[in-house]
Amino acid sequence: MVKTNYKEALKNSVFKIISASAQELGIDCYVIGGFVRDFLLNRGRAKDIDIVAVGSGIALAKKVASKLEGSSQVSVFKNFGTAMIKKGALELEFVGARKESYDRGSRKPVVEDGSLEDDQKRRDFTINALALSLNEQDFATLLDPFDGLGDLERRLIRTPLEPGITYSDDPLRMMRAIRFATQLHFEIQLPSLEAIHTHRERITIVSKERIVEELHKILASQKPSIGFTLLHKTGLLPYIMPELVALEGIEEVEGQKHKDNFWHTLEVVDNICETTDNLWLRWAALLHDIGKAPTKRFHKRNGWTFHGHEFVGSKMVYKLFKRLRMPLNDKMKFVQKMVLMSSRPIVLSEDFVTDSAVRRLVFDAGVYVDDLMTLCEADITTKNPRKQKKYKNNFKEVRKKIIEVEERDHIRNFQPPISGEEIMTTFRLKPSREIGVIKEAIKEAILEGEIPNEYDAAKKYMLKKGRELGLSASSE
Ligand code: CTP
Repeated sequence: MVKTNYKEALKNSVFKIISASAQELGIDCYVIGGFVRDFLLNRGRAKDIDIVAVGSGIALAKKVASKLEGSSQVSVFKNFGTAMIKKGALELEFVGARKESYDRGSRKPVVEDGSLEDDQKRRDFTINALALSLNEQDFATLLDPFDGLGDLERRLIRTPLEPGITYSDDPLRMMRAIRFATQLHFEIQLPSLEAIHTHRERITIVSKERIVEELHKILASQKPSIGFTLLHKTGLLPYIMPELVALEGIEEVEGQKHKDNFWHTLEVVDNICETTDNLWLRWAALLHDIGKAPTKRFHKRNGWTFHGHEFVGSKMVYKLFKRLRMPLNDKMKFVQKMVLMSSRPIVLSEDFVTDSAVRRLVFDAGVYVDDLMTLCEADITTKNPRKQKKYKNNFKEVRKKIIEVEERDHIRNFQPPISGEEIMTTFRLKPSREIGVIKEAIKEAILEGEIPNEYDAAKKYMLKKGRELGLSASSE
């Protein structure tokens, strides 16, 4: 149900101050955009508020700041004709209403002052063009020339102008349409979808950072598959993530088929969203199979294989992050690690789950072992209820063993119980290969369960290993 008590939206005293300021300046002003939309939809949000002034937005901002109690900072962006005030958690953005007209000779947009309706027309979607008056004579009246309210009720993404114009004005809006459809569970009106398809190539002029911002928002939604399906349907996906598009399709050779890894991936992403809000784990789910396209082979005997796809996939993560100008930091490394290890728990659970296999898993995944298990559980997309149950039980078993082994052996944050220095002094060694050999042997013995992860046992083992290598200990 769309809310109707508009006055409630403006109960914060700041709106009265803006209203009085505009009155003093003799100009009209309105709250517009996301704040109004989210209030009507009853979505919690109150942080950033867009104010449009029919006149100078900057002058209005300055007036408002002078009236606000306590300190408030105005940042003026002269080139854009906008100003921002930060007041506690609130961010008030002021802009003058504009109309865009074109200089016939150059086709360059000429920005002119305009009326409220001129400004609303230039906005991306009807649901984002809704405005609430802050003027004394009609305070809290909704101004809705394009029936945005109707679209909120119909749950429809529609552009105020002919869609081709709105999307050419700013091609990022193609991503925004899809992002809003995903976040709000709205439909995109057919002519809009067609226009996105027509103008899809124009996404290449949008900065990668802005594209990624939208991708993050899609992935942070409840059901990201809505967005990725739309990106695919409109033909935007090949420009953004061709690696995903390459996963689409089912090949059949000699009666043997493999699954469609694109649609499988989207299912995995939706699944993981039910159990985690960790954005980077969601990215890992999205990318966990990207190595499958380049490694796909058919063998007469084994059927379809994707050997080494995890390794290839983890290398692709780096390239993809780099291309999209995403951070090449610990977040990227985390995604790489998840992709690289994405098959490990499955392989492990297919067999009898031994303690040493679990120790190795925990050793390799370290503090991320739980995230890895979450990813693998989301990866179960079989429609066969018997298999579904079997895999889930196997993973439960693995999780149980992880806890048991961890309580006993503390592998998660593994620190070698014997340091390289101690090996050196014990055997009077200079830096040499033997130190590495002994250290590795101790680690292996712990992971194999031959010795517990404890100092005394490790020291004894070190002395034994040293003897085997023909070394004599200083105390011997
Ligand atoms: N807008 C637009 N075209 C864009 C970006 C923004 O017309 N490419 C307009 C819309 O009216 C939008 C307003 O500017 O409502 C504010 O934009 P923004 O803060 O990016 O989005 P919100 O609608 O506030 O939504 P959200 O905070 O969820 O991104």
